Amino acid sequence: MTERAYQQCVNPTCATTYGVDEIHVACAKCGSLLDIQYDWNRLAIPKSLSSFESRWSTNGLDLEGRLNFSGVWRFRDLMPFYRSEDDIVTIGEGRTMLQQADILARHLGMGARSLFLQYEGLNPSGSFKDNGMTAAFTHAKMVGAKKVACASTGNTSASLALYASLAELTGIVFIGSGKIAFGKLSQALDYGAITLQIKGDFDACLHRVREIATDHPELGIYLMNSVNPFRLEGQKSIMYRVLEGLNWEVPDWIIVPGGNLGNCSAFGKAFIELKALGLIDRIPRLAVINARGANTLHQLFSVRGLKWNDGHVDHDSINQYYGELNEAGYHAHTIASAIEIGRPVNLVKSLRALDAMNGITREVSDDEILEARAMIARWGFGCEPASAAGIAALINLLGDGTIGKSERVTCILTGHELKDADATVRYHTGIDMKSAQDHATKFPVTGRLANQPIRVGDSVEDIVAALNM
Ligand code: F0G
Repeated sequence: MTERAYQQCVNPTCATTYGVDEIHVACAKCGSLLDIQYDWNRLAIPKSLSSFESRWSTNGLDLEGRLNFSGVWRFRDLMPFYRSEDDIVTIGEGRTMLQQADILARHLGMGARSLFLQYEGLNPSGSFKDNGMTAAFTHAKMVGAKKVACASTGNTSASLALYASLAELTGIVFIGSGKIAFGKLSQALDYGAITLQIKGDFDACLHRVREIATDHPELGIYLMNSVNPFRLEGQKSIMYRVLEGLNWEVPDWIIVPGGNLGNCSAFGKAFIELKALGLIDRIPRLAVINARGANTLHQLFSVRGLKWNDGHVDHDSINQYYGELNEAGYHAHTIASAIEIGRPVNLVKSLRALDAMNGITREVSDDEILEARAMIARWGFGCEPASAAGIAALINLLGDGTIGKSERVTCILTGHELKDADATVRYHTGIDMKSAQDHATKFPVTGRLANQPIRVGDSVEDIVAALNM
């Protein structure tokens, strides 16, 4: 490869490379995940992380100003996969904050200036997904995609729908029936995405959308899930902003909820690169938190001992585990619907992140998640249930001494509280808004821009027929 940026298979025995102008959602040779790699000898490496601060003062209406305004593209030198800055699709994402959460820290028995909350719910679509979507849409624009699709537990679909409408692309989202919080469903409909409600859960939806994107090239559908390596490039910026919020000091711990495991994988890649470029001198530890009802990573990594092993991951033990789940008729189930995922597609990359960041995994119950969510809302700002899994686990990690009370901890709050207001109302009043809606009066749908979800069976034929393409 003579390119400055290229795609590369993460499997070290394959390591096939592809140009950044190609569209792949997996290695064409061996089926493994792909990464974006850079030839840093041919790129300008930032002298220091603090050099990015000069961009704070230059955010105007011209292209450079708009890129500097974005909390993702302000760091574009650390994700230079685009051909030209004109390719970049930005809507001002990533202007999120790191809150020093001293009151919450006190309630957890931690010292002052120990606990920090990175509020990714403050993104334009209300979740961290916008960090990745801006990068994936940039790539979609580079390759001339016209239709973009994803499977989603809700937030990816909201983010995709928003970017698709502003980039004037056709957005198609696959969601499980009755599986996503209303705040997220309302966004996908409102932003005008074709919304397919598949009979099945997230794992089924992702399987189908991958099938449609790969096996039906005639449909020309560009896949936006986190198997898309460009998305994870954008999500690295969450870590850059955490460092920025700490005045470029490295915290002791990063705690993040794990669903499809794209975010934690991106964090690992961010720190591996920053260390290799000499921009940081140490890497924080990582804790990836599963909901107990969707605990594949925790089971495989902490219980069964699956490791990165320099990229030589033991796929037989993964397949055996999934075989056991199939035999038991297992489907993930948790109140934290955003992370209700049984077969996380970025599993292998998450093992790399855990390896590089001396990481751990934990699982937390739905009750622990709901209590932690309420604590964050009471003494922080709000977040949705999945985001609170990190604080729920932190309570346990402080309790068993894994994390010391004066260590510096950053929890990533991945989604806004208003995404899942039902969960909050139910916690405080006992009223289940979702079932109330089932029995509620139905008004005729007469809105000029009404965009009703389409219910379809879990089969490629039904989906293609519904898309009418
Ligand atoms: N938190 C929230 C609020 C999420 O929406 C998700 C994932 C996660 C955490 C987990 O992140 O997948 O990178 O490990 N939501 C995806 C979706 C799956 O479709 O919106 P992850």
